Amino acid sequence: MNTVASVGPVLTVAEPYLIQQDFAAYTPEQHATWAELVRRRMPQLREHACREYLDGFEQIGLREDSLPDLAAVSRRLMPRTGWQSTPVSGFLPGDAFFEMLSARLFPTTTWLRSRDSMEYTPEPDIFHDVFGHVPMHAHPVFADFLQHYGKVCASLRNPDDLERMGRLFWFTVEFGVIRQGGKIKVYGSGLISSHGECTHVVEGGSSGPEIRDFNLDQVMEQEFSTGEMQKVLYAVDSFDQIYVAAQEAARRLGL
Ligand SMILES: [Fe+2]
Repeated sequence: MNTVASVGPVLTVAEPYLIQQDFAAYTPEQHATWAELVRRRMPQLREHACREYLDGFEQIGLREDSLPDLAAVSRRLMPRTGWQSTPVSGFLPGDAFFEMLSARLFPTTTWLRSRDSMEYTPEPDIFHDVFGHVPMHAHPVFADFLQHYGKVCASLRNPDDLERMGRLFWFTVEFGVIRQGGKIKVYGSGLISSHGECTHVVEGGSSGPEIRDFNLDQVMEQEFSTGEMQKVLYAVDSFDQIYVAAQEAARRLGL
């Protein structure tokens, strides 16, 4: 019997959004769609994803041939970093999202995009959430950063402050890049899970995004668009940098 995914901190605002993943309900066609999505992404990611993502992919037991069972993912993740991949009904409001991150529970959607929208979905699905995000949660520093980020945001009330922290999330968790071995490697889930966005970065050349050194002041003021390819990204040299940035951001926002 699996009890891992059901054992955890008590949630207040996020509780109504928690669901069970009905793993047996996925159809063979959905498993085949997942397999195709993974097979389309892996050749580029083996070359252009950061080490920590590729290690995490193995450590949490993701497979190319079938959708992930979130309870099984959490059983492998918890002993490493204390994180779980927790099924939710869909998009969460900020306070619920931050409450879950503070408790090392990653809100994870369970639906999968259809074959008609292999490249892009306006709302996150299980491919974006698990394939894109969860492998990084096996990395201890990234794991600590993400929890700390959630705690900081959970204690903010000013919408402008939350917007600044939203930009930090966007330019790290969603669209972060890191320098490794003299090359730019991707770790943000928006780059990991999207062939078009990732290709724009790693093969874009002069028409690709401008890649700047990570700078917290700039990141917190940098506007972005969700509906088009990114024009600017921020590269870190190690994940310690984003952990320190979350602490520094909290200080600047008076926490
Ligand atoms: Fe995401």
